[in-house]
Amino acid sequence: MDKLIVEGGHKLRGTLNISGSKNASLPILAAALLTDEPVRISRVPDVSDTNYMLQILSQLGASVERSSGTVRIESPDGISSSASYDQVRKMRASICLLGPMMARMHRCTLPLPGGCVIGDRPVDLHVRAIQALGARVRVKGGNLLIDAPNGLIGTTVDMRGDSGPTVLGTDNLMMAAVLAKGTTVIESAAREPEVVDLADFLNKMGARIEGAGSRTITVHGVDKLHGCEHTVIPDRIEAGTFMVAAAMCSEEGLTLNRICRKHLKAIADLLVECGHSVEFNEEGDSVVVKPGAHPRSGKILTNPYPGYPTDMQAQMTALFAITPGISVVRDTIFPQRFMHCSELKRMGANIKVDNGTAIITGVEGLSAAPVMASDLRASAALVLAALAAEGTTEIHRLYHIDRGYEMLDEKLLSLGARVRRVLDTEAPDFES
Ligand code: UD1
Repeated sequence: MDKLIVEGGHKLRGTLNISGSKNASLPILAAALLTDEPVRISRVPDVSDTNYMLQILSQLGASVERSSGTVRIESPDGISSSASYDQVRKMRASICLLGPMMARMHRCTLPLPGGCVIGDRPVDLHVRAIQALGARVRVKGGNLLIDAPNGLIGTTVDMRGDSGPTVLGTDNLMMAAVLAKGTTVIESAAREPEVVDLADFLNKMGARIEGAGSRTITVHGVDKLHGCEHTVIPDRIEAGTFMVAAAMCSEEGLTLNRICRKHLKAIADLLVECGHSVEFNEEGDSVVVKPGAHPRSGKILTNPYPGYPTDMQAQMTALFAITPGISVVRDTIFPQRFMHCSELKRMGANIKVDNGTAIITGVEGLSAAPVMASDLRASAALVLAALAAEGTTEIHRLYHIDRGYEMLDEKLLSLGARVRRVLDTEAPDFES
């Protein structure tokens, strides 16, 4: 296990290239199972979640080659329809194998993903969707046993749950429907850019998907898909995290390249509302973010895209912690996602969490403390806080951040931060 040692107070400056999107890569890698021809996917970030996905694919029998951010996958006939608990337990997003496995083999055995620190994480909507296409679903020994002896048959499915649309659920249904008989209409579909990227990838493979990015997606089933090449969209959450870093920890600002302006609107709007400067270039693929002279508090209500993303509330909470005034963060998608607040409080933040809402009273500065990362985005918030804090912070359980941020320490070093990754031989016993 590694920990990150962050010497706070050094101003960041310079330019950074943003990596390909982790959340777009995961379902796209899984979708490679839909054809026996090779697919080539570029800008797949080298993070542990994509590594887990590639390990699972190769254990199922696919051949996987990876070099310089490009992955080549070939899934010959005869690949396994069964993934083991050991393979999938490390990553909840492995549920997105359900759609491609059902489309290709009409059966699959997938361990039920457990809950995680950000909440219960149910999969009822994934199950409902595959049942609607004619599959039978049983739960045995902690596994989902699914089969569709007569194949999958297109129909209309409403994917809306109590907390709004589901991203990976929409992905799964789209992937299951591409080889189904007839037409599937997905109502209340998730509109996230990662869903659109998956649809683009599937269409390049020969699928017939219309409407991705809107509330209704129509999938006309085809007999076969073929190989293709695809470049994954930029990671809007990594970009957003560095935009917040620029507002918190730089003087002259940071330039971020390989971004997509449209995907960053909610984050950019909030930073501007809070008094910071966000300037995109004309092409919308580069942005300069500078801290404002008179930063203001703000309000976040997380919402499905194009609303403010739940994956960016923890990082903004770190910024609010040192912004004058009272800020409010309400997460309607994962109301329990506030573990980072207790750690930020150990660094001197003034935060009250109640019933899915954090109320943050800005303090003048944070001070270093040993802190523990609890989930991916919470750990990003702790890194941001540590960069701005006085003193040297140790962030334990760094593996959380390695799930989704490619070469974070290298990137921070290139911007002038003083960070060091070391083996955590004396991890404090936080859990007792
Ligand atoms: C994806 C993202 C994750 C992000 C989340 C919400 C990936 C790999 N992960 O996760 O980073 O935080 O979208 O933007 O892309 N729900 C149900 N039943 C289900 C499925 C979901 O009730 O069967 C609920 C969830 O508990 C949550 C809401 O729906 O309250 C949205 O979750 P969902 O969009 O499914 O999240 P993921 O796709 O798992």
